Amino acid sequence: MTIMERTLAIVKPDGVSRGLIGEVIKRLEGSDFKIVAIKMLHLTKKQAEGFYDVHKGKPFFESLTDFMSSGPAVMMILEGENVIARYRELMGATHYKEAAEGTIRREFATDIEKNVVHGSDAPETAAFEMTYYFNNLEIVS
Ligand code: CMP
Repeated sequence: MTIMERTLAIVKPDGVSRGLIGEVIKRLEGSDFKIVAIKMLHLTKKQAEGFYDVHKGKPFFESLTDFMSSGPAVMMILEGENVIARYRELMGATHYKEAAEGTIRREFATDIEKNVVHGSDAPETAAFEMTYYFNNLEIVS
């Protein structure tokens, strides 16, 4: 079944500082995902904590939110058929060592935290994550 969906994609601070914004966008456009919103933000620690609230209490939470507020990141909303699952396939598994050949994380991630990209994992999280960074006026239709 095909469903038109939207999802949040992030090029994380490691991806931005290593000059991988273009590489990621090339792969997104090459997969027929439509970018319907885009911006660059340097998150504060508090903003990173709010975004990753579901991971609060986990052992990697402090380090993750330090990392995500360490430099600018690029936030995008992608639109397409089954885009949530298809973008997750393009990214590869969270742990780059488990990510499939040819995926973004397999090719560019350097550790489980500095894994270059983020993507929502389900429609409910996508809805929360998109509205965390974008309002309706910032999304083209
Ligand atoms: P992301 O898809 O953004 O979701 C949570 C992030 O936490 C994950 O990518 C990694 O960058 C980071 N992280 C660090 N350690 C772990 C871990 N052990 N398990 C899952 N995510 C981790």
